[in-house]
Amino acid sequence: CGIVGYIGKRDSQDILIEGLKKLEYRGYDSAGIAVFTKNGLEITKSKGRLANLEDKLKGDPLEGSVGIGHTRWATHGKPSDVNSHPHTDNSAKFSVVHNGIIENYLDLKDELAAKGHVFVSETDTEIISHLIAEEYDGNIVEAVQHAVKRMRGAYALGVLTEYEPERLVAVRFASPLVIGIGEGENFIGSDIPAILEHTRNVYILDDGEMAVLTRNGVELMTTEGEIISKEIFHVDWDLVTAEKAGYDHFMLKEIYEQPKAYRDTMLGRIADDNKSVFLKELTMTAEYIKSIRKVHIVACGTAYHAGLVGKSVIESLARIPAENDVASEYRYRSPIITPDTLVIVVSQSGETADTLAALREAKRSGARVLAITNVVGSSVAREADDVIVTWAGPEIAVASTKAYTSQLIAFYLFGLHLAGVLGTQEQSAVEELIAGLHQLPEQVESILEQSAVLKQVAESISHHKSLFFIGRGVDYAVAQEGSLKLKEISYIHSEAYAAGELKHGTLALIEEGIPVIALITQEALYEKTLSNIKEVKARGAHVLGIANAGFETEAAKSVDELFTIPKTLPLLTPALSVLPLQLISYYASLALGHDVDKPRNLAKSVTVE
Ligand code: G6P
Repeated sequence: CGIVGYIGKRDSQDILIEGLKKLEYRGYDSAGIAVFTKNGLEITKSKGRLANLEDKLKGDPLEGSVGIGHTRWATHGKPSDVNSHPHTDNSAKFSVVHNGIIENYLDLKDELAAKGHVFVSETDTEIISHLIAEEYDGNIVEAVQHAVKRMRGAYALGVLTEYEPERLVAVRFASPLVIGIGEGENFIGSDIPAILEHTRNVYILDDGEMAVLTRNGVELMTTEGEIISKEIFHVDWDLVTAEKAGYDHFMLKEIYEQPKAYRDTMLGRIADDNKSVFLKELTMTAEYIKSIRKVHIVACGTAYHAGLVGKSVIESLARIPAENDVASEYRYRSPIITPDTLVIVVSQSGETADTLAALREAKRSGARVLAITNVVGSSVAREADDVIVTWAGPEIAVASTKAYTSQLIAFYLFGLHLAGVLGTQEQSAVEELIAGLHQLPEQVESILEQSAVLKQVAESISHHKSLFFIGRGVDYAVAQEGSLKLKEISYIHSEAYAAGELKHGTLALIEEGIPVIALITQEALYEKTLSNIKEVKARGAHVLGIANAGFETEAAKSVDELFTIPKTLPLLTPALSVLPLQLISYYASLALGHDVDKPRNLAKSVTVE
């Protein structure tokens, strides 16, 4: 989603629309603005592209010099006019734009409904406008402070009230927000591109901070009301760099967004006491879950590779047999689908034609379909019986990174959800996994800090024509994703092999100096993989080992180079071990001078079979 806001002397409508246009690259499915006009606080919004909103405004412009605007990337509630932002309360005196997810919105909704509030949309944001209206007692700043105390989750908010037309209030928690400082005018934006045309001086808000904007000044404070001062950040990026938040490529930005994507995907889905996972969005009953006899996981490309890990997760946590299929094969191989088969389709975009066709085939055969997708309201999401949304946010680079890892998180959560219903895991094992999940974002951060080492590895790999990825168990699944990532963007030939299978043929291709990336994160398979490493080393391969902390001394003896990832549970390692592979691919592509974000011959979303 994107937020923009303006308070100044100029007409706000065009500033808001132009700002929203700069955010369109982040994905959108609807947009809207609220402006103080001579008639009060007026809102215009529209489903679809920004052009639809512009058309509406052409006939009926909103004139006034204070306003807020939003482009939406649906989380709660499908894309529609009514679910678009800005939202308002029943008095229509308050208006709110919001990025993020309010975890406890259903509880708040019940509470407010009991006090007589009537809701028109399916969104969590509408609740915020009602909550602020409820808390309002003559001071909008205090009302916002009181409201955010009640909210759990992630939010960046822009708030206006008709009672105080000289103030624009902005507040942030776990969702980005910047304040642009102008002369006789000030701005808010979820991202710098939204306001870059007007000012290069910004305050970057931190969690728990808020800003009160008037035409002539910006007051900064905490949500507790304590006045603070911040350094002005001078933006010297051009627009293209700003869209990438200062990173050289969208892919790199998205790689670095993974800690947030993990947190957002877990948000609201793990019980406060960390003893269980609950996927409230699922409509499948416990009775149905008990009737599932097999699972088919169907997807394409990177999503297929997430499904490979998903198979291990479901089999080990829920003890239900699972198979993987490439979507384009599934449809035409007359798969044996019975009513006790749960078909899981995985798709970042939710629009991949092959995946959609497989979904329809599964439904025709009487199976229940669960979709794991990054796009609310996508075709796959609409047609599936149940949906788990990965909250990775829009992914722009063709090579998928944060969507893949968020899909892994979705599988972990679903596996734990099944285990909870079926009682297939000891309570202590469940709690250990939940604790492990919570640690992942920080562990990812510590891997990202070591990117310089991986850049060096990538540069030396980039001189080679071919290389191999090997691993066993979930390491093999990750090897396949690492190999695909490298091929997609560096155009270097590579193959992923189950480490034990190499000797049955492919070993013939190993010759002096060929790079082999070996994943050695699985304790139980550790000795076996080390033997396979010895086989390739004996034929002259140069081996980079990726092992987890705890094994590094032993592993180091067998490999030429070693990259260590933080220690986690065996089942969770894919969510860490894929990170170095993503970075190696990125830097190899960069070293070879390729178009990282838009590799040749490929498209982000393939809507033909
Ligand atoms: C395309 C993309 C891949 C992606 C695949 C599946 O081929 O280039 O990166 O993994 O489609 O996309 P989906 O949106 O269904 O996950």
